[in-house]
Amino acid sequence: MYKRKLPRERLVTQEFARQLAELSFECGRQVGVLLGRGGRVEYVMVGDAFSITLPDFKRVRAGAGRFRGLRCIHTHLRGERLTQDDLTDLALLRLDAMVAVQVDSHGLPDKVDYASLQPPDSEGETVSRHDLVSPSLLDFDFLEWIDELEASFGEAQKGIAVEGKGERAVLVCVELGNDAWADERCAEMRELARTAGLQIVDTVRQRRPRPDPRYLVGPGKIKDLVTRAWQQGATLVLFDRDLTPGQLRAITDIVEARIVDRTQLILDIFAQNARTKEAKLQVELAQQKYRLPRLAGQSEGMSRLQGGIGGRGPGETKLEVDRRRVRDRITLLERNLKEVTRQRETRRARRKSEGLPVLSIVGYTNAGKSTLLNRLTKSDVHAADKLFATVDTSARRLRFPRERDVIITDTVGFIRDLPTELVAGFKSTLEEIRDATVLLHVVDASSPQLPQQVEAVRGILAELELDDKPEVLILNKSDRVSPEERENLAKRFAGIPISALNGEGIEGMLQSVERVVFEGGKR
Ligand code: GTP
Repeated sequence: MYKRKLPRERLVTQEFARQLAELSFECGRQVGVLLGRGGRVEYVMVGDAFSITLPDFKRVRAGAGRFRGLRCIHTHLRGERLTQDDLTDLALLRLDAMVAVQVDSHGLPDKVDYASLQPPDSEGETVSRHDLVSPSLLDFDFLEWIDELEASFGEAQKGIAVEGKGERAVLVCVELGNDAWADERCAEMRELARTAGLQIVDTVRQRRPRPDPRYLVGPGKIKDLVTRAWQQGATLVLFDRDLTPGQLRAITDIVEARIVDRTQLILDIFAQNARTKEAKLQVELAQQKYRLPRLAGQSEGMSRLQGGIGGRGPGETKLEVDRRRVRDRITLLERNLKEVTRQRETRRARRKSEGLPVLSIVGYTNAGKSTLLNRLTKSDVHAADKLFATVDTSARRLRFPRERDVIITDTVGFIRDLPTELVAGFKSTLEEIRDATVLLHVVDASSPQLPQQVEAVRGILAELELDDKPEVLILNKSDRVSPEERENLAKRFAGIPISALNGEGIEGMLQSVERVVFEGGKR
């Protein structure tokens, strides 16, 4: 097929290098341009003697494997090589190339130092630095060269995409000051990601004395993140802590992926798992409330005066419209929720009038609450090896050995630092615990985080002012620990070892619970 031959284009021509060097030499400052393909000058920059600042590009939106289509050509006055900042800008802005023309003591171009991006090699290196070369020898066809380079990225990323089925995410774990939970939080975030069906393809860790107000992590780390997310073909970046609306916006501006923080991920999992109408309403309400202050305040093209169509008031910006929509949705959800809650209250009152004692199962997420409820009531409440498989409260009747009935309820799993939006949203569900005669606090005896999880659950109960209820601690999953360990834990936590899975210890547990429920006594 006939293919129109484009004129050859050099990375930088001798003439251009000479003009740039001259200008730079005269003013004693670095001078630079961003050249588009075709050689058009798109930006001109003037720095000081040692550095130059590139324009602040807002999000770099481009297809997979595509560069920005701009190369930076600037001068270095002291014969220095490309700096770390030069290479970071190359990656951050996805430039075609970063080129430094070294200016000699007569104001003439000496050597050219240039670098380009490359698909990650075995060492994970993403920047390829080339040999110093005289401008006259830089005669390869730039357009052909960049085409090939882009194609190699396209291939590399295609390879990545078919590897796993879940969405690809880079996890950012941040350790602040003397952060005792750092490792656990990071591990828990992995678990949450797995539950949400995501695939963690890379982890970026950072330790800082305190959070960076702008990005949470340091500016250097953010650049690192940009490159790694891109290299890995990640469409999501997860933070194991919460971001302020400002941080979220700042990070979204430079990282080319969706940014999700811990609360948002937990909310998303709740949304995936909510089954009853009430739970669905509660989760969406929490999501919308979390979203409201985080709606992006992109400034471009937003101040247009536009009345009429779409109900947009005169002068109302897109952001204002979005905010108004979310607020309206919140109002609607709150109204619907009130109605559903009223219906549940009626059921709850009916149960109360039956005068049956209520056992409420509480516990850290994935402790085995649903499995225990199923075993006790031989019902089939959804149990899965995932966090927050249960988001709804379910109530069942349970008959004790001596023909005495109780109501038993399962609740949403708890987690350390349960997002406040959720505690608020689930308050009415958790209110059911208020009716409890006794709490069955189920823990995962095989978890290395056992003490912390017990503390987290008790903390949330205290927050809900429910910590005065009698509690029976159930050491579930005891089949996973050695007999000695089981005994130790039972002593240390004054708990009853059981296995909801194989039924071990259930009889004994029921007898103890029965005593506490009906005799109010010690077990
Ligand atoms: P959330 O809904 O997240 O709050 O979880 P949950 O506390 O209701 O836990 P669930 O009953 O869904 O159980 C979580 C996982 O632990 C499942 O894979 C269960 O099969 C497993 N599991 C539950 N009890 C036991 C047990 O006694 N021994 C073992 N080995 N596994 C158990």
